[in-house]
Amino acid sequence: MKPRNGLAGTRHKTRGWSIEDYANYYRWMPGYDREKLFAHNIAIYELERRRSKKNYFKLELKSSSDHCVFLMFWAPEGKTRPHQHVYEGRGSAAAIHVLKGTIVQELFRIGEAQEELLEYNEYFYGYGQEAIQEEPDCVHRIGNKSLSSWAITVHEFTPGFAMRVYDFELNRTWLIAGNEDTLGDPPYDAEPIWPRTN
Ligand SMILES: [Fe+2]
Repeated sequence: MKPRNGLAGTRHKTRGWSIEDYANYYRWMPGYDREKLFAHNIAIYELERRRSKKNYFKLELKSSSDHCVFLMFWAPEGKTRPHQHVYEGRGSAAAIHVLKGTIVQELFRIGEAQEELLEYNEYFYGYGQEAIQEEPDCVHRIGNKSLSSWAITVHEFTPGFAMRVYDFELNRTWLIAGNEDTLGDPPYDAEPIWPRTN
């Protein structure tokens, strides 16, 4: 039997799973071997990456009215665009646990003056460390530190998930409702981050 996208019937309806449980969500499979299954998924995404140019991939583990969980697979150097999770005044907090590799979380604070970034910090996380917290109004970027290996994370977040994405170089910001990724060109109705001064 092949791994399936999404939940497999009623086996996964229990709330309050530990991170080990999430990491082992394939454990019902005959001949289960976590490392082998992660390698299997990475091989699939490696091929997909060449075709789609995406550098991270999501696999939904569970989704309910108050709790969503994804596994995410990060290609070497794969990262999101800077973004935050406030949409129409509502925010979605997230906790990220690293299962494999080293993840870097970059935090930004944007100033009002043209192209002003008031602060920039980065933090590194590995397996077994505290969860990475994403506060709704904090502009951040998550990515894989490694130049050569894939990283895997578990993301737990509250529903109403949305993103405001920032492209500092193009001076553009736009909203995404739902859990699409942050890649691709800015949409036609993207707004300037900083007002134009000329
Ligand atoms: Fe985020």
